[in-house]
Amino acid sequence: MRFVHIDKLQSGLELARPVFAPDGRILLNSGVQMETTYIERLRHLGIPGVYVTDKDREGIQIPETISQRTRLDATARVKAVFDSVRVGKTFRLEDVSESVKAIIDEIVRNPNVLASLSDVRSYDGYTFSHSVNVCVVSVMLGLKKGYNEIQLYELGLGAILHDIGKTQIPEEILTKPARLTEAEMALMQQHTTFGWQILRENPNVPLSSAHVAYQHHERPNGHGYPRQLTSERILPYAKIVAVADAYDAMTSERAYQRGMLPHEALKLINRLRGVQFESDMVDLLDRCVALYPVGCMVRLNSRELGVVVDVNQSERTRPIVRVLYDRWGNRLPQFFELDLAKERYLTIVEVVE
Ligand SMILES: [Fe+2]
Repeated sequence: MRFVHIDKLQSGLELARPVFAPDGRILLNSGVQMETTYIERLRHLGIPGVYVTDKDREGIQIPETISQRTRLDATARVKAVFDSVRVGKTFRLEDVSESVKAIIDEIVRNPNVLASLSDVRSYDGYTFSHSVNVCVVSVMLGLKKGYNEIQLYELGLGAILHDIGKTQIPEEILTKPARLTEAEMALMQQHTTFGWQILRENPNVPLSSAHVAYQHHERPNGHGYPRQLTSERILPYAKIVAVADAYDAMTSERAYQRGMLPHEALKLINRLRGVQFESDMVDLLDRCVALYPVGCMVRLNSRELGVVVDVNQSERTRPIVRVLYDRWGNRLPQFFELDLAKERYLTIVEVVE
């Protein structure tokens, strides 16, 4: 299976994974053949693309960082919390805290998946699944940092609710397709302060989680907002969420913009280390992200073309590659697999898709 952006989707392609609405309903089930009317409907709903079956990737299991069920449940719960806060109601913390605990449980139980962040992307509406993704990535980084269960919970809760202040920002500013004016930008930046106020008022939210909403746009160089804090005054949880937020935003597929590949996003974040992002946290991200995630098509220095089928935990630049095309681009009658950790003369020179 492979991800196809909405702009490249054609009728006849077969869905490999169901397409879900943000509330968890199935819009289209796996096995369905795409038709022009479906594609138009998906586009209308702002869905950036879908997974389709692909003979080059037959039988390759793309590992899931957290289960589909936990992800969908969490997304629906975040949506419910945002919806009630938006209309001025108080929210029940249990609604999201259950999800945060489930996410932590799955990540702690399955730390090997840490190397593959390929599925941590949003394919259904942006805000809610982005919140869940930021929580997943933050918890992964926290686990690498050696946090205990309580710390992971405080971090995860702050991460999943980091943008709750956006409920107080008018919809037309949130979704404005053009550049924001200075006044609109100033209002938009207030989502941090609003988030802090909303979370602080709920006695069940740890203060350190509320601070994540307040500080996640602060930057080590003091050029962030809302208070221009410098590195030593920004809390570690907020520094982690800042990195996770940026990574997910960069790699997310949007209807109007292709997501970056993991190694491209990593390169960009590394370029901003110490300035926009705390070096220690960037190191954690480096250790969590698979540069060449399972399912991606790569070109080797031998000019052969193949699909990554497994990741080597100890050597992230040297995964196991199933070679499908020879150096002249001809499809091989029979594929073979190469472990780049053993075949030292081979390297990956390019990610093809
Ligand atoms: Fe934000």
